Formats: sequence, structure tokens, C-alpha cells
Amino acid sequence: MHLHHVDSAPVAPARPDSNGLSLISGFDALYPDIEHWFASKVAPGLSDGSRRLLIERDLDSVRGFAILKKEAHERKICTLWVRPDQRRRGVGQRLIDESIAWLECEKPMLTVPEEAILDFWGLLTRNGFELRQRAVNYYRLGRCEYVFNGRLPGPLDGAIMQ
Ligand SMILES: CC(C)(COP(=O)(O)OP(=O)(O)OC[C@H]1O[C@@H](n2cnc3c(N)ncnc32)[C@H](O)[C@@H]1OP(=O)(O)O)[C@@H](O)C(=O)NCCC(=O)NCCS
Repeated sequence: MHLHHVDSAPVAPARPDSNGLSLISGFDALYPDIEHWFASKVAPGLSDGSRRLLIERDLDSVRGFAILKKEAHERKICTLWVRPDQRRRGVGQRLIDESIAWLECEKPMLTVPEEAILDFWGLLTRNGFELRQRAVNYYRLGRCEYVFNGRLPGPLDGAIMQ
């Protein structure tokens, strides 16, 4: 299904001045550095065109979103999230389709925290994403990050979100 199909809410790139930061509030339990990352990397990247925020909305709230990174050396879906009551209806697939189109890359990198791997597994394997790394202690001590279509940089760069 295409994003602009008549019975689906549009997925639109947000403008840099939109309140993207509010989207990731609460994600700090999974990524302790996430607010700093958003302010220092995502916000400037939205301005210079190296990042994009895709948001699927219903009338008054966000159904799901993706944060994308497009640079010469890396194409990445940095964050992908669908509101719990909207899951298993195809929103995640539409966000993946639109991400692949904007990134101009069939297999962008995506990392998944262990808490969410079961949610993601069917969607990612059906889209041909390849599990390439299990990174333990990377963003959080004692926790595993599953890395698809790429590998995270070395342990010295560990806690820095890209
Ligand atoms: C992973 C995630 C994005 C998937 O989103 P989603 O909108 O549920 O994805 P989809 O609906 O496209 O697909 C999910 C499943 O629903 C199924 N599905 C899709 N439409 C359906 C429908 N109309 N009827 C029944 N099943 C359907 C898909 O086949 C898929 O099944 P599978 O997992 O068994 O392969 C979502 O679960 C999520 O946000 N989880 C938490 C993510 C998170 O923590 N993110 C932060 C770190 S990155």
C-alpha cells in the first residue's frame, strides 16, 4: 500500500521547526543519550537535508514515525516506532517503504533494542533486512542491540548515537 493511498493517513516530512523532540521523549530508557543526540545531530540534519522525519498521523496524534539519516557513507533508519494501539495494521511497513524511497537504499542500517526485537522480526525479515551483529553493552550495560544491514562502530565510540 502506498503512503498516499486514499484510506491511509499521509506520511509527511516534518519541518525542522516541528516538535520532533517530543516524539522521542520516553525513549531515554532505551537510549540514554537520545535527547542530546536529537539536539546535536537530528535537528541540524533536518536543516541541512541529511536527516528526515517521517510522521504518519491521524487527526490529532501521531500513529508512527521514522527518523532517517542519509549521508554518503551511511543510509540509516535511526528510529522507527508505531503507537501500540496502531500496530499490526501496516503502518510500520508504510514507514519502511517510504524510508527506503527517501534513502534511495533497499537495505538501510537499522538497530533494534532487545526489548523490541520480537515486534520487528517479521517486518524486517520480510523486507530482506539482514541481522549482521548483536552488540552487547553498546548503548546500555547488559543489554543487546540487534544490528541489521550493517555494523556499529567500534567499542570506543560505544555510547555515541549516530
Ligand atoms: C516494530 C514496529 C515498528 C512494527 O510496526 P507495525 O505498524 O506493527 O508494523 P506492520 O503492521 O507493518 O507489521 C507488523 C505485523 O503486523 C502484520 N500486519 C500488518 N497489517 C496487518 C493487518 N491488516 N492485519 C493483520 N496483520 C497485519 C504484519 O504482517 C506483521 O506481521 P509479522 O510481524 O508477523 O511479520 C512496532 O511494533 C513498534 O513500534 N515497536 C516498538 C519499536 C520501538 O521500540 N522503537 C524504538 C527503538 S527503534
